[in-house]
Amino acid sequence: GLPHQVTVYEVGPRDGLQNEAAVVPVEAKAEFVARLAGAGHKVIETTSFVHPKWVPQLADAEELLARVERRPGVRYPVLVPNERGLDRALAMEVDEIAVFASATETFAAKNLNRSLESQFDMFEPVVARAVAAGVRVRAYVSMCFADPWEGPTPIPQVVEVGERLLGLGCYELSLGDTIGVATPGHVTALIEAFGSPDRLAVHFHDTYGQALGNTLTALRAGVTTVDASTGGIGGCPYAESATGNLATEDLVWMLDGLGVETGLDLGKLVETSTWLAGLLGRPSPSRVVQALSKG
Ligand code: HMG
Ligand code: MG
Repeated sequence: GLPHQVTVYEVGPRDGLQNEAAVVPVEAKAEFVARLAGAGHKVIETTSFVHPKWVPQLADAEELLARVERRPGVRYPVLVPNERGLDRALAMEVDEIAVFASATETFAAKNLNRSLESQFDMFEPVVARAVAAGVRVRAYVSMCFADPWEGPTPIPQVVEVGERLLGLGCYELSLGDTIGVATPGHVTALIEAFGSPDRLAVHFHDTYGQALGNTLTALRAGVTTVDASTGGIGGCPYAESATGNLATEDLVWMLDGLGVETGLDLGKLVETSTWLAGLLGRPSPSRVVQALSKG
């Protein structure tokens, strides 16, 4: 079966804009976020409080949050890796944060400058302090299917990292296919290995064109939260083989066709995607946008 309703967790302003060669002006970022809310998004991952030298594209996190008009009923989570990032996020009165872990040793070193084990020492006080302050915490696990340096990631290793994050007090675990290599059978096996899909979300990059198929598989396995990026932008500066996320427009076309509710307005998403393509100077990779924009 399929869920009646799916929560689309929009990551375009964060996963998308963290990976752009050109720095997008803060006014345009704020407009992007406002357009996403206007299209019906109820959760928009807005930016990251990471080290500005590591991700210069998002060094304007404070300035952006000050500009975003936060609508009632819309959540605006931000990425936070450590206590310094949490202090910055709390100073901007965020309502939700996301910590981001690695399922593999190599990516933990490259993305977090930590070992697989010591990443938890970094997250533990972040989650505890956030929860105590009434701020919800989501957790990501990256490289859930394979990693460019280590090859396929053993499923038990992903489950262990994920369960430790949930055990710290995170409300949801987003399974990241950072480099977009997953295929549906692997998705089913990973979700089954967790025992229950209840607190799982999925985060597919579309490098090999599998993101939509993988998503449908996850929905059939009971997942009801799907990460996607309007405009199909995205990638990780510390994993060069990563390309864009599943495009929100492609996801919504499929879910509309299946009669699964998202609360999203496809026409407005396509308009936003086209506006963004103009801003970034290249066409949207979304086939739905290409098809609907033909005259
Ligand atoms: P580090 O160099 O080990 O940091 O970086 P440190 O803890 O040793 O601190 C060094 C200095 O940096 C200190 O300053 C800190 O205050 C400062 P000093 O005392 O020397 O003057 N500092 C900070 N400043 C501002 N904000 C901060 C911050 N933290 C430390 N938050 C760190 C460790 C985690 C900070 C670094 O590795 C980092 O920022 N990594 C983030 C990388 C990143 O953003 N990657 C992309 C997001 S993950 C992703 O895209 C995957 C995902 O989409 C899912 C998927 O697709 O799989 C989520
Ligand atoms: Mg990602």
